[in-house]
Amino acid sequence: MKKSIVLVLVVLMTVSMLLAGCGNDSTASESAASQEASASATGESAPAADASEGGTGTVSGKIGILMPSVVVARWADDAKSMEEAAKAIGLETEVQFADDAIETQVMQIENMVTKGYKALIICPVNAEALTEVLGKAKKAGVTVISYDRLIQGTEDVDYYVTFDNIKVGEVCGQYIVDALDLETNQGPFNLEIFTGDIADNNAKMTLEGGMNILQPYIDNGQLVVKSGQTTLEQTATKGWATGEAQNRMDNIMSGFYTSDKLDAIFSTYGGMSLGCIASLQALGYGTDEKPMPIITAQDGELAIVQAVANGTLSMSLFKDTRALAKQAIDLTAASLKGETVELDASKFYDNGAFEVPTVLLDPIPFDKSNLDKVMIEDSGYWTKEDIYG
Ligand code: BGC
Repeated sequence: MKKSIVLVLVVLMTVSMLLAGCGNDSTASESAASQEASASATGESAPAADASEGGTGTVSGKIGILMPSVVVARWADDAKSMEEAAKAIGLETEVQFADDAIETQVMQIENMVTKGYKALIICPVNAEALTEVLGKAKKAGVTVISYDRLIQGTEDVDYYVTFDNIKVGEVCGQYIVDALDLETNQGPFNLEIFTGDIADNNAKMTLEGGMNILQPYIDNGQLVVKSGQTTLEQTATKGWATGEAQNRMDNIMSGFYTSDKLDAIFSTYGGMSLGCIASLQALGYGTDEKPMPIITAQDGELAIVQAVANGTLSMSLFKDTRALAKQAIDLTAASLKGETVELDASKFYDNGAFEVPTVLLDPIPFDKSNLDKVMIEDSGYWTKEDIYG
């Protein structure tokens, strides 16, 4: 993302497939941008723009929702929220999950283009593998929204909607610094690092955010990464998978911590953190004599929230999938209506081909101290019974 640009850019939507009853109301989408900007400033989850409100324009037809897999629980929630938001404004949907397989997702996109779908909302399995198929989609006049993960290396993307991934990493890094009180406590403390799938730009960005905070303490010796594994290649976790993280943690523990204690784990997905926790529990961590290290995470999936509630996981960041889903559907609707949408260019993400117009939502950190407020009272994302039984 180019931070230096602070102008508000007018993005002219030139989608060729305009729909019946097409209106000229840009109010909804403009307010999306300003709501988003103010929500970001206050640290709240942005309220989605509402393309169904106040406009004369309506939309119809079918759109495709392409999610990477059902293994990570959030993608099914994202898809469900998008289906509901689309239905509410008269759009039909088809949802496909790709089993984390690149070829499957490419085939699914191709089929939807052939079937004449008006728009595709895609969370890529592999961010760099869609250039050719999206070329076909664009030729057919299909609106393309990059969902949560940035599709790389192609101009054939209309919008990107996501949470601030650099911030995710920075918040996790800062949590570790504060929890170990590195401002006053010289340590040294032992730290290990877990990032996500190497084909997902979010893995790179969250690590970058984390290192913005942690690197100075690694450099001055207050934090020691005994495995020596700090690069994206060394710390990546295939498919962001729990089992992969657990295996790597097992190896790190047997290789570097047979006599030393692990103090902190920088991890940017709760599923991976849970893998690390399983590995550590098998080694006797999690007792009064041998407490769990500080462990970070992201996402508000139930298992992750429960782990924060029971104290095995230190914190996570709540990404409200309902808000992101609504942004995606409202931008889709605006695009299908041929509306002009203004977005804050300072938030655009560079995908290697161009600066993709981006809506950036703020993730909300929580630990045991504010879990109920963030996950139950303020958002209603889970109930007390869901979390505590
Ligand atoms: C998303 C995370 C998610 C992870 C695993 C990332 O791209 O930003 O929210 O947990 O993928 O699927």
